[in-house]
Amino acid sequence: MTVQSTIPAPHVSDTKVPVHVAIIMDGNGRWAKARGLDRSAGHVEGVNTVRRITEAASEAGIGYLTLYAFSTENWNRPQSEVDALMHLIGMAIERETPDLIRNNVRLTMIGDTDRMPPEALDRLNGCIESTSHCSGLTLCLALSYSARWELAEAVRRISNEVADRRLAVGDIDEHTVSRFLTTASMPDPDLLIRTGGDQRISNFLLWQIAYSEIYFTPTYWPDFTKEQFREALDSYAGRERRFGLTSEQVLSDCDGATSP
Ligand code: IPE
Ligand code: IPE
Ligand code: MG
Repeated sequence: MTVQSTIPAPHVSDTKVPVHVAIIMDGNGRWAKARGLDRSAGHVEGVNTVRRITEAASEAGIGYLTLYAFSTENWNRPQSEVDALMHLIGMAIERETPDLIRNNVRLTMIGDTDRMPPEALDRLNGCIESTSHCSGLTLCLALSYSARWELAEAVRRISNEVADRRLAVGDIDEHTVSRFLTTASMPDPDLLIRTGGDQRISNFLLWQIAYSEIYFTPTYWPDFTKEQFREALDSYAGRERRFGLTSEQVLSDCDGATSP
């Protein structure tokens, strides 16, 4: 196995379109409550936003869109809400698959998906299979996902590698950890958006967002529009990502990258 022993300085890119956008889609329940509706009506409306924002992400030329759809902690919600959500996810995936293929979107998922009800899981796996040839946007659904679950899994799997002598303890570095996370095939998110007004991470991608730009909006997820998504992209484009460097270093790195 090839293991890099030194951690290279993060590449400071001058590209203004994020490669990977991750979204904590929050506020479905409050959206419904504000209208005197059942919480599940908010989740139903939230699916329309998923379709809209997936389209907007494709249009913007984003490579990866990771959506936090259901956390490990969400299993503790009232059973009726969990059941309704799982049913909705299965139905929505089946309904949207032809459009995903038409729009060249590849579906993937991360999380402890063995906990998903078989019906929803079958439909998800079917969609993943049917869209595996798509080469446009990668849409990654985080389902039954939590970052602490993922990190504990990674530690367990790395320990097994060590026990089986496929990996030396001294060779474990940041790259090793990244390789054992569920997101190993994706770059870290450049931009993390949370809708719904709360300013917290709720156990999402804790390792991967080390240097992500964060954008909070009070808009509930069902109300989140393409225009608002583009505002988040504009905000990202206007930021200077320094990765621990000075502003002068970042600027000279950009000059270097663009000079012939
Ligand atoms: C986000 O909306 C969707 C899930 C967590 C499944 P919520 O259901 O958390 O809505 P609020 O935050 O209660 O309004
Ligand atoms: C985060 O939302 C999880 C998802 C969006 C799937 P929550 O509504 O579960 O988060 P908290 O409980 O407000 O932190
Ligand atoms: Mg919430």
